Amino acid sequence: MRVLSGIQPTGRFHWGNYFGAIRQYIALQDNEQAFYFIADLHALTTIRDAATLRGYTRDAALDLLALGLDPAKATLFRQSDIPEVTELMWLLTTLTPMSLLEKCHAYKDKVAKGKAKSADAGLFSYPVLMAADLLLYDSNVVPVGVDQVQHVEVTRDLAVKFNLTYQRDVFVLPDARVMADTAKVVGLNGEKMSKSQDNTIELFEDAKKLRKKINSIQTDSTPVESPKNPETCAVFTLYKLFATEAQQTVLAARYRAGGMGYGEAKQALFEAADAFFGPARERREKLAANANNVEEVLQAGAKRARVKAQEVLNRAREACGLSRRGG
Ligand code: ADP
Ligand code: TRP
Repeated sequence: MRVLSGIQPTGRFHWGNYFGAIRQYIALQDNEQAFYFIADLHALTTIRDAATLRGYTRDAALDLLALGLDPAKATLFRQSDIPEVTELMWLLTTLTPMSLLEKCHAYKDKVAKGKAKSADAGLFSYPVLMAADLLLYDSNVVPVGVDQVQHVEVTRDLAVKFNLTYQRDVFVLPDARVMADTAKVVGLNGEKMSKSQDNTIELFEDAKKLRKKINSIQTDSTPVESPKNPETCAVFTLYKLFATEAQQTVLAARYRAGGMGYGEAKQALFEAADAFFGPARERREKLAANANNVEEVLQAGAKRARVKAQEVLNRAREACGLSRRGG
């Protein structure tokens, strides 16, 4: 069983990334053969500054390692260190219907906003690169947030089409795995937490910033004395990510009883979040002090991943009449 997932280095990671994706990566590394990569080629569709991309890529690696991704168990690498992926993307592109990509949400959203003309071919064919990511390593399970399920479906369509066209079982079909209870983490404004919405709380904000962000979570204007509904409150929804069942029951009862202002709930959320990410923050500081370590981890990961990539790409090349490559 191979687990594989990628995450784009397009900014600092936030709570949505952790509870929607990263936590699953770490949980799966113990039992399965896990491959995780930093999707820097995908990030080129939005980041067009070399120093920024390098910085976010390094931050992504540091964050993942600090949060518990263990290079002795999982293979961590940079997407761009495996050149086979762009070659496989081309093989898949030749079989990809335009109509399939027109339905994919990143491009469709642009069209809906009347910005189709400014969409580049990279954004349009982004799902084909993701399909190459998934198929290149014979992955079976893909832990992702709900928004990525469509791309895994596209991947399956392309894999079936390739296998049928060339009459061989070249590719394994991957399955998306979404964690249901935290499938969608809400942000400061109660909408889905996302960099593009500017409503995120980053994983390693310092205490002062964290407090400020939490204080800015939107709440309604119910007076302090009145009972409040925890289930419709973004503060409580976020608190649930960090608190035990017992702690949740206690805070929910206080909401319903009245006499508690949102400020108190925000304080409870601050304390829970700060305690939750505290140990990872310390690990991150230690890791960051030795930058070479991170680079070594990524290069060792790429070396391992590339062995698999070359094997699968050769299968695909052979199936469509290209020569096998040595190595
Ligand atoms: P963003 O929306 O901030 O740009 P990405 O698209 O880079 O985040 O997401 C990286 C990973 O984190 C994906 O697997 C995505 O599904 C997951 N993810 C992002 N935001 C959330 C969220 N609010 N809730 C759950 N999962 C999320
Ligand atoms: N498209 C994903 C995102 O925006 C990132 C990604 C690239 C990915 N390749 C992948 C996720 C392969 C899972 C598997 O979040």
